Amino acid sequence: MDIRFDNKTAIVTGAGIGLGRSYALLLASRGARVVVNDMGGSMDGSGHSETPAQKVVDEIRAQGGEAVADYNDISSIQGAGSVVKACCDAYGKVDILINSAGILRDKSFAKMEMADFEKVISVHLLGTVYMTKAVYPIMLENKYGRIVNTTSAAGLYGNFGQTNYGAAKMGIVGFMNALKQEGAKHNILVNTVAPIAATRMGEGVYPEAVLSALKPELVAAVVAYLSSEQCTLSGEIISAGGGYYAKVQIVESRGVRFKPTDSVTPELIADRLPDITKMEGAVHFGSAIEEVMAMFKHLL
Ligand SMILES: NC(=O)c1ccc[n+]([C@@H]2O[C@H](COP(=O)([O-])OP(=O)(O)OC[C@H]3O[C@@H](n4cnc5c(N)ncnc54)[C@H](O)[C@@H]3O)[C@@H](O)[C@H]2O)c1
Repeated sequence: MDIRFDNKTAIVTGAGIGLGRSYALLLASRGARVVVNDMGGSMDGSGHSETPAQKVVDEIRAQGGEAVADYNDISSIQGAGSVVKACCDAYGKVDILINSAGILRDKSFAKMEMADFEKVISVHLLGTVYMTKAVYPIMLENKYGRIVNTTSAAGLYGNFGQTNYGAAKMGIVGFMNALKQEGAKHNILVNTVAPIAATRMGEGVYPEAVLSALKPELVAAVVAYLSSEQCTLSGEIISAGGGYYAKVQIVESRGVRFKPTDSVTPELIADRLPDITKMEGAVHFGSAIEEVMAMFKHLL
């Protein structure tokens, strides 16, 4: 099975450098027409430059591919709308949206300025939402869409100094969980990658010894699959880095059941805590309704 993107149009946000660049190059090399979006700021989101996006477009064209550059800030509704308009003006439709743009403003929560919290939420979470909102009517009309969002181990599992980033990255998972249900009957698949790569963002964080293994291209392979017509997944989180690929899931322990007529005291909860938190046989629920129905089962 050859995975190609002929006649497909993709928007990749934050594609001037790092992971986004790698996604744009791979999709374009396999026939996609790509909008390379990047506002070209520094890692904390300040500044603006057209050079990174333009360079990626030049690279794609030099290899015989089709791409246009876009320099809009995806953290505003208007900016996101302009990226999508640029895609429609150039190529007439949007089949694929890869939300990769991101910034960092790390600080322990005690020292965190709320402006830095809000800025990180606005780029990662709201940027993803605004971009998706702008492409969604087009995907609905075409009954086709592939959306790949970006979370992080920092959100899935927690990282010191990243309450803002962690909240934004888990918010993206919650956004996907609902959207996968709404998009399903329209052939709009939405998945989320949790990448690790030696980009500008990753370089200062990972041990020197592993940096050369953390090639963005290794993440791009799974992002391209999730962006493809052949993709069979929706609502999944895939962790990828250094050649490792794994599914991440939120699971719930089997729990304990008291009768609703029992008098359940805090002491009883403390006694049964080992059973409540025992993760053997933990289960995943495909939707909130499934989880709630499982809870109600012994009440009906
Ligand atoms: N590199 C890693 O190890 C790693 C780990 C976990 C998650 N991530 C996530 O992967 C994504 C890509 O990260 P990266 O490592 O390639 O980072 P990067 O800093 O190399 O690239 C991010 C790009 O996004 C652009 N950008 C930032 N804000 C923007 C905005 N408002 N509008 C348009 N463009 C904007 C930047 O200009 C930059 O070119 C991010 O969402 C990041 O949080 C990366």
